[in-house]
Amino acid sequence: MGTYTICGEKRLKGEVYVGGAKNAVLPILAACLLCEEQVVLENCPRLLDVYNTASLMRSLGCDVKLDKNTIEVNAGNLNKNELPKEYSEKMRSSIFMLGSLISRKKQATAYFPGGCEIGMRPIDLHLKGLSQMNIEIKEEGGKIICDARDMKCGDVVLDYPSVGATENVLMAAVLTEGQTIIHNPAREPEIVDLQNFLNSMGANVSGAGSGQIIVKGVKKLHGGSYKIMGDRIVAGTFLAAAAVTKGEVTVTGIEPMYLQSVIAKLEECGCTIKTYEDAIKLSVKNELTEISSIVTAPYPGFPTDMQAQMFALCCVCKGTSIIMENVFENRFKHGAELTKMGANVTIKDRMAIIRGVDVLKGASVDAMDLRGGAALVIAGLNAKGITTVNNTHHIHRGYEDFAEKIKTLGGDITED
Ligand code: EPZ
Repeated sequence: MGTYTICGEKRLKGEVYVGGAKNAVLPILAACLLCEEQVVLENCPRLLDVYNTASLMRSLGCDVKLDKNTIEVNAGNLNKNELPKEYSEKMRSSIFMLGSLISRKKQATAYFPGGCEIGMRPIDLHLKGLSQMNIEIKEEGGKIICDARDMKCGDVVLDYPSVGATENVLMAAVLTEGQTIIHNPAREPEIVDLQNFLNSMGANVSGAGSGQIIVKGVKKLHGGSYKIMGDRIVAGTFLAAAAVTKGEVTVTGIEPMYLQSVIAKLEECGCTIKTYEDAIKLSVKNELTEISSIVTAPYPGFPTDMQAQMFALCCVCKGTSIIMENVFENRFKHGAELTKMGANVTIKDRMAIIRGVDVLKGASVDAMDLRGGAALVIAGLNAKGITTVNNTHHIHRGYEDFAEKIKTLGGDITED
């Protein structure tokens, strides 16, 4: 269990490349199961979740080679159709494999993923979506047994625009003869990236990012190579870190349009933002003032994955900021840890009321989840004195070389 030690009050200055998106590469790796030829993925982030997904794929008989930020996958020898229990429990995103596995093997077994630090993380929408494609799904003792020998194309309606459920149904439909339309899908940019990846391998998918995704089934996919999109949440995290230190930072390798809702809130509290084709520059010339309200919602609403980081920023914005977390039921754990650093926070159910303080004070705090951990690092960069952030393994799940990148921007941070 690692620890970051941060000496705060250093202005961050300079440029940082954000790297490939965790929430794009994970479903795209799952989609590689649909193809029997070699696929090369570029701009992949070196993250714990990527390593765990690679070993899960090897356990199914796939050949997976990781070389820095490139992954070579060949699922030609896929010879198992059961997602091992230990992976399902260790990493929720392994359930994204189900759709591809069903499509390739017609029969597949998975286990219910455990809940995690931010909520129960049910998969009812995944299973309801797949069953609308005439896939027979039985649940026996924690096991999910899928029989897709009679699966059919058709209309799939999601009760809620779940990212994972959209991706699972999309991957199940790619090799299914006929036209499948997914209604009320998630519109996240990472799903557009998945669509673009699938089409680069010969699939016929359109509408990702809109209210309807249309899939025309094809017989086979061919191999190829694909560059993963930039990670908008990593980009937003570094922008929030620059803001709390009143620094001047440019994040590169990112499309600004995918961060519009975050940019709007950064500008609202007094940051100056300049956008370029594949970069965003933030500087702070005035005092930071409150953000009247942040309400998390499915894309293009404010992303729940940026809630914790903006929460930390609001702690040092003059005035009172309000945050509503409408996506996950338990995603304010960082509030109690920030209070240890002198933050003035009141949490009522899904609402956080944050009264800004001039500066936070260093303390020993515990990361409880991925984005909450990143928020504590952001707070430590602002704080007077030394902050230690424990349980850094949470943070390594989603941030490549996090401490190193902060150091290159002038932050004083070490890990042990
Ligand atoms: C994806 O998770 C992301 N993970 C999450 O990022 C992200 O927070 C989330 O989408 C929302 O944007 C990956 O892409 C690997 P959902 P996912 O299904 O697919 C409920 C991070 O920090 N729900 O859109 O699991 C669910 O409980 C991670 O990078 C059901 O009720 O999210 C939640 O309240 C955290 N039944 C809401 O929907 C279901 O079957 C949104 O979940 C599925 C979801």
